[in-house]
Amino acid sequence: NMIKVAVVGGEGIGPEVTDQSHRILKWFSARRGIPVALREAQYGLIPYLATGKVLPDDTAEAMEEADAILWGATGGPETKEVPPAARKVGSLLSLRSKYDLYANLRPIVANPALADSASLKASVLKDVDFIIIRELTSGIYFGEPRGIETLPDGQRRGFNTQQYTTSQIRRVARTAFELARTRKGRVCSVDKANVLETSVLWREEVTALHQAEFSDIELTHLYVDNAAMQIVRAPSQFDVMVTCNIFGDILSDCAAMASGSLGMLPSVSLGPPDRLGRRKALYEPVHGSAPDIAGKGIANPLGSILSVAMMLRLTLNRPDDATLLEKAVDTALAGGARTADIAEPGAKRLSTQEMGDAVLNALDKV
Ligand code: NAI
Ligand code: MG
Repeated sequence: NMIKVAVVGGEGIGPEVTDQSHRILKWFSARRGIPVALREAQYGLIPYLATGKVLPDDTAEAMEEADAILWGATGGPETKEVPPAARKVGSLLSLRSKYDLYANLRPIVANPALADSASLKASVLKDVDFIIIRELTSGIYFGEPRGIETLPDGQRRGFNTQQYTTSQIRRVARTAFELARTRKGRVCSVDKANVLETSVLWREEVTALHQAEFSDIELTHLYVDNAAMQIVRAPSQFDVMVTCNIFGDILSDCAAMASGSLGMLPSVSLGPPDRLGRRKALYEPVHGSAPDIAGKGIANPLGSILSVAMMLRLTLNRPDDATLLEKAVDTALAGGARTADIAEPGAKRLSTQEMGDAVLNALDKV
C-alpha cells in the first residue's frame, strides 16, 4: 500500500529547492517508515529539447498515477525558448484544471526566529498561524465573457466576468470547515457582499453549509477590504480563511510577508475527494522560478521543505511527522541557519544545499 509521490522540480530554482525537499521525503521514508514510492520526473525546457514536450509522456504518467505531486516551479527565460503552443500543452494551469485542483491552501506562520528581525514587527507577528484557502479553478480568472472590445466612439473597453456556482462555493467552503475541525475550529469567509452578487451568493451558500453540517465551527464573515487591513493589523486573530480566486490571490501575497520571505511559504492545491476521501494534491512552494537567482545554489528551500510537512499532514496522514519536520525547520532557524533572502546584513549565508543539511541535521537529533 505504497503512497505514490511524483517529484517534479521543473525550471529555474524549482529543481534546486526540490532536490532538498526530496532528500527530506527520503529521510521520512527511511527513518520513519513512511510508505512512499517516489518517482522523479522532468518538466520544462530540458525535456522539451529532448522530446518536443514540456510535459513528456513519462512525467504525465508519473503525475497521473501519483496520489501527491511535489512540484518545484516553471517559467522564466526558459519560457521564451519553447513556442507558446508547445508551452500550453501540459502547462501548470492546464494541470490544475485537469485534476480539478480547486482548493489552494496557503499556511501563514510567523517563525519566532525571524520575527525578531528588524524588518518584521514582533508584537504583530506573535502567535500568527493561519491558513488561507483560495478557490483556484473559477471566479473572474476563468469567467466568460471576457475580452477587450472597441466601442462605436473609438474607445476600448476591457471586461471580465466574476462568477461562481453554488457547488463551486460549497466544495471549497467544505474544505475550509473540515480543515478548521483539525485546527482551532474557526472559519472566516471573505467576500464583498455589499457590492457583488457573486459575493452575496458566496455568503448565503457558506452560511447554509455551515448551518447544515458544521455548526460546531465558529463562522465569521469579512469584507475583503477590511480583511486586508486585519491581516496587516492583527493576523493572529485568524485560523482558516476562505475566499474566491482573485481575493485569495491578493490576500495571500499580502499575508505572505508575515513569514518574512516568499521563499519560506508552502502550499497545496487539492482536488475533489474520491469515494475513500482521498484527494489528488499538488504540493509546491508559493514562489516561482526566480530567474534572478536560478543556477546560483542560493535559493531558500524552506518553502518546498515545508510543503513536505503539509504532505505529511494531508496526504500521508502523519500529523506527528509533519510537526516533527516543522520543529526541525524551527530548530535550524533558531540555530541561525539563513539563506540570503532571510539573512540580516553581515550574517553568514547558507547555500540551498546547506539549508537542506541544517534541516536534516535537526531531524537527526530528535
Ligand atoms: P518569483 O517567486 O520567481 O520571484 C520573486 C522574487 O522572490 C525574486 O526576486 C526571487 O529571487 C525571490 N525568490 C523567490 N523564491 C525564492 C526563494 N526560494 N529563495 C530566495 N528568493 C526567492 O516570482 P516572479 O519573479 O514574479 O516570477 C518568475 C517566474 O516564475 C515567472 O515566469 C512566473 O510565471 C513563474 N512562476 C511560477 C510559479 C509556479 O511554478 N507555480 C508561481 C509563481 C511564478
Ligand atoms: Mg499571486
